[in-house]
Amino acid sequence: MLLLTYSTAVICAVFIATGAVSGEVKIKPVGDTVSFRPTNIKSPVTSIIWKHRSSSVVTKAIEWDDDGLNIPNPRFKGITTLDEKTGQITITNLTVEHSGVYTIDINSKEQEQRFTLEVQERVSKPVIVKEESSNPDVVYLRCGDSEEIIWKNSTGQVLEGKKNHKPGKFIMVENTKNPQNFYTCTLKNDVSEETSRVYERDLFKTESNGGQIVGIVIGVLILALLIMSFLYAFVKSVHVVVPLKSENADTENASPSDEKQQKG
Ligand SMILES: *[C@@H]1O[C@H](CO)[C@@H](O)[C@H](O)[C@H]1NC(C)=O
Ligand SMILES: *[C@@H]1O[C@H](CO)[C@@H](O)[C@H](O)[C@H]1NC(C)=O
Repeated sequence: MLLLTYSTAVICAVFIATGAVSGEVKIKPVGDTVSFRPTNIKSPVTSIIWKHRSSSVVTKAIEWDDDGLNIPNPRFKGITTLDEKTGQITITNLTVEHSGVYTIDINSKEQEQRFTLEVQERVSKPVIVKEESSNPDVVYLRCGDSEEIIWKNSTGQVLEGKKNHKPGKFIMVENTKNPQNFYTCTLKNDVSEETSRVYERDLFKTESNGGQIVGIVIGVLILALLIMSFLYAFVKSVHVVVPLKSENADTENASPSDEKQQKG
């Protein structure tokens, strides 16, 4: 009895080992397409059944025989095709529920080959959240959740993101007063990656923004001055061409030179 149990274990181990050796693993993003194809298929082929195993539930993905093609499970309907000659299955519009192990029966005999599919959601565009500190020239930037998180600065150097009780990883950023400086956060998984960037100048208000406002105000003032002097020159030339008409209204504000011209 003990010997029997032992030999069963050995057979199982050998079976699992060979299964692992002949296994094929594909990782795909949601919405993508996957194809699996058995390596040796001997004609004549009279029937094919592809089966999907996920947490010990076995479903038929697609079957083909004398009666034609059949896709009994709604999870595979409309998105699954089969090449009867090569045995290749193709599934489009993948969802996470298509993850699992696929096996193929040819002429009602299950083949040894295993095909493992893992479907993952793509990472979303990272959102960089700023947290103020007691120092106005220091802020904390936080990004990500449970996926791989990579923080970098403008020079492309990787910065060590730290963890605390909140999700994601954070870095400490000091105000270097260099408007070119920026920080990027990249989220990454097996099927995708996305990066967001934030400029240092958008993180610190105080001086640089004050400077910007002063700059804008000065710019507006200069523009107003230019427009006024242009208008003044224009009005002056009108006065020269059309004398007397609006004289009464304008004499009060007119400059001495104006008066001279009008008199002469
Ligand atoms: C599969 O995806 C394509 C493009 O994304 C879409 O047009 C089509 O309707 C989808 N088919 C099914 C059965 O969901
Ligand atoms: C980028 O990070 C590296 C490593 O922390 C640092 O030595 C370098 O000064 C940083 N450069 C900028 C422009 O922030």
